[in-house]
Amino acid sequence: MVFAPKFLAFVAASLSLVGAAVLEERAPVDPCATIAGKKWVSPKEVRACYQSIKVDETLKANIIEVVTKTLAFHASTNYQIKAPQPFTNDVHEDILATLAQIKSKKYASDYDLHIDLSRAFKRLNDGHVVWINRCYDSAFVNYLPIPLSLITAKDGSQNVHISPEAFTVATAEFPDQIQFWQDSLKWPLTGKLQSLAGAKVLLINGRPPFDAVNDNVAIAGSYQSFATRQNGFFSSYQATAAGWTYLLGQFAQQSLPLSDNAVLTIQREGHLLPEIVILPYRSRIGSAIKPFTDGKSFFANNCRAVPATNGQDIYASSISAFSAPEDSERPVEEFQQQTPVPASVARKHPINVILDTQPLSDVVLPPTLAPGLPAAPGSRNAAQFYLLKDGKTGVLALGSFSDSNYDAFLNSLLQGLVSLKSQGATQLVVDVTNNGGGFICAAHWLHRIIIGPKSTTVPQAGLDTEARNGPLAQLIVKEIINKNADPDNELLYNPRQWRNAKNEVFNATDDWLQPPVKKIINGRADAFSQRLGQECQPEAFPANVPDVGLFDPKKVVIVSNGRYVLRLQAPNPTG
Ligand SMILES: *[C@@H]1O[C@H](CO)[C@@H](O)[C@H](O)[C@H]1NC(C)=O
Repeated sequence: MVFAPKFLAFVAASLSLVGAAVLEERAPVDPCATIAGKKWVSPKEVRACYQSIKVDETLKANIIEVVTKTLAFHASTNYQIKAPQPFTNDVHEDILATLAQIKSKKYASDYDLHIDLSRAFKRLNDGHVVWINRCYDSAFVNYLPIPLSLITAKDGSQNVHISPEAFTVATAEFPDQIQFWQDSLKWPLTGKLQSLAGAKVLLINGRPPFDAVNDNVAIAGSYQSFATRQNGFFSSYQATAAGWTYLLGQFAQQSLPLSDNAVLTIQREGHLLPEIVILPYRSRIGSAIKPFTDGKSFFANNCRAVPATNGQDIYASSISAFSAPEDSERPVEEFQQQTPVPASVARKHPINVILDTQPLSDVVLPPTLAPGLPAAPGSRNAAQFYLLKDGKTGVLALGSFSDSNYDAFLNSLLQGLVSLKSQGATQLVVDVTNNGGGFICAAHWLHRIIIGPKSTTVPQAGLDTEARNGPLAQLIVKEIINKNADPDNELLYNPRQWRNAKNEVFNATDDWLQPPVKKIINGRADAFSQRLGQECQPEAFPANVPDVGLFDPKKVVIVSNGRYVLRLQAPNPTG
């Protein structure tokens, strides 16, 4: 079933609550004062600051209550107790039961509580439901200057290597910290960080590299697929509206101060003997953190709710429905894995985006790795078109389904493909590596224009859907119908946002959640709506749609590292 996009923002917003915390009074040394005003510190110092913050039991109880109630709007909670095949073993978390346990458990610090909550939500392996606490997640980011890559050897074997571009990236991104790492390397490698680039990694912390990869997989979250979570450990790239960016991967970049050192057994190119390298992680202050001088001001300035933390009343006179509040008042957007869409645009088009515990990368991709070809007409923001030198292979590098302008974006996708064709392209590569989602209907539009009008694209552009239908959802719909609570048709629960199974838009007074369809899912009683029509309909697409497909579907390949949101596949319970 399809996960309704505006639920996502609601769930995400509600989960990014302020941390339940107060400061211990009269602490002899304030560990937060130690790191105050510094750009780079050690992960240990950051942990000491975080762990000096005690749990406020009242706030904790409130958080557990709000989160539990919010999950009544998340489509998959009961499915995630034991997901259907093929993710039965990958998604096996009874989040409501876990929250009940966390509620009664005592924690030494608010940070320890945060880790338990964060891990519980990460075990859902679902990028649509995340626990983000801005007090800790990416407040300081933990880095190593040696991102890792999987490289295929001549004999076909795949091995873990320090990324060949590691030194280039690290010197550009961490100019003020490189010397620290150079000096921390032991003789004879002292000062020779550059010579590690490309080295084969034989062991990580004394164990085979994939042990470290799989330890990370267990806490990485966001993606159901095991292999996709493995890929997140390694460096990669993304086309964004701001250009090509480099992602260091979760070995070299952590949103919490989890690791102090990495001990690698490596074999450098041209060297017979393995060498051991110990490199410390370093924590850099995050871009969103507000200045502080001690634990008290760290908490007061950073660990607090802001007006939009739990969503916002778009009919409140202080907030215009069509103006975006300041960035600082929209905490969720910092963690979306693509460029934010203006609020007014986002409410008019269904959106499906990945949220993670770190902001979208702004590390520049080294020019040697970025495409050197000229971008073809139609290229726009995160959608870039290229014709390869063979003259017959077109490439659409599509790093996001988000754009500031929906119509301009859809038109540029068409213009780009048509221009590739007119230049002679007969085959197409669509690269959606790290595409963090965006307009759901843009994906359907792309499908429609590439393969043309077929039973899977016309008249039904996508899949039918249904909505989670709990008691509170039903009350909200009744409120909208009976009291005209949403005259401007801004809310997801407005009947006019939905179609019935015959694809007719509901009328303003149709109670579209009645009657509920009761189900038992993994032993739990649940309720969903009747079958609903698809929200991406051909009549909402640009008028100039070609009446034949632009490419032979057998000549189209989609490439990615698994880390993308492209909702064209068969329905599954987590969308
Ligand atoms: C909405 O009302 C119109 C006019 O009465 C009707 O033709 C249409 O079928 C209704 N739509 C639905 C989904 O019932």
